[in-house]
Amino acid sequence: MKKICFVLMLTVLCSISACSNAQPIPAKKILIVYLSRTNNTRAIANIIHEQVAGKLIALELEKPYPENYQAIVQQVVKENETGYLPPLKTKIDSIDQYDVVFVGFPTWGMKLPPPVKSFLKQYDLSGKTIVPFNTNAGYGIGSTFETVKELCPKSRVLDGFTTKGGIERDGIYFVMQGEREKQAREGIKEWLREIKIKK
Ligand SMILES: Cc1cc2nc3c(=O)[nH]c(=O)nc-3n(C[C@H](O)[C@H](O)[C@H](O)COP(=O)(O)O)c2cc1C
Repeated sequence: MKKICFVLMLTVLCSISACSNAQPIPAKKILIVYLSRTNNTRAIANIIHEQVAGKLIALELEKPYPENYQAIVQQVVKENETGYLPPLKTKIDSIDQYDVVFVGFPTWGMKLPPPVKSFLKQYDLSGKTIVPFNTNAGYGIGSTFETVKELCPKSRVLDGFTTKGGIERDGIYFVMQGEREKQAREGIKEWLREIKIKK
């Protein structure tokens, strides 16, 4: 009996000391950066944030784009032609601390919006996992995800998430509410499982 008690005590003591010596597994630090004009991509960013936590940051420009739809379309065409990178007002403190960077944007002119190029070029994302997400008017991602890969050659770029958002050209702005938001949330949960960010 004494022997059994001694073995039991030894086992308990060993497991306590094993616990106290165990190093905590460092959790991956997540940053969610997004560009949004009419809040659809913002709503997707919020759902991702609700699912994975981390730091959520909206990209803002030093000089905001015009409110008028035709004017912004023309400006973006010019910026794409010349390769202009609009300066960002948003500053991100110590980007080094993040392991996973979600990058969200609408499709603009079937391309990656210039401010997102500004972000990807301005910050050193090498060694990090990049996770793109997108909303668009129904014409798809265009070259956006490809451009993210091109601009992050030293990062691991995971498969992105995309969903239909507003159709500003037709005066349809924010749509990510009610049933649409619910559907998006389900799609996002499934995607996060597929890319193994969440169980
Ligand atoms: C300048 C501009 C260009 C756009 N170009 C496209 C496009 O090429 N294809 C598309 O499907 N949607 C296009 N859209 C629509 C947006 O991608 C869509 O409304 C998106 O959901 C907007 O996201 P936001 O609400 O986060 O700004 C464009 C919108 C703007 C403002």
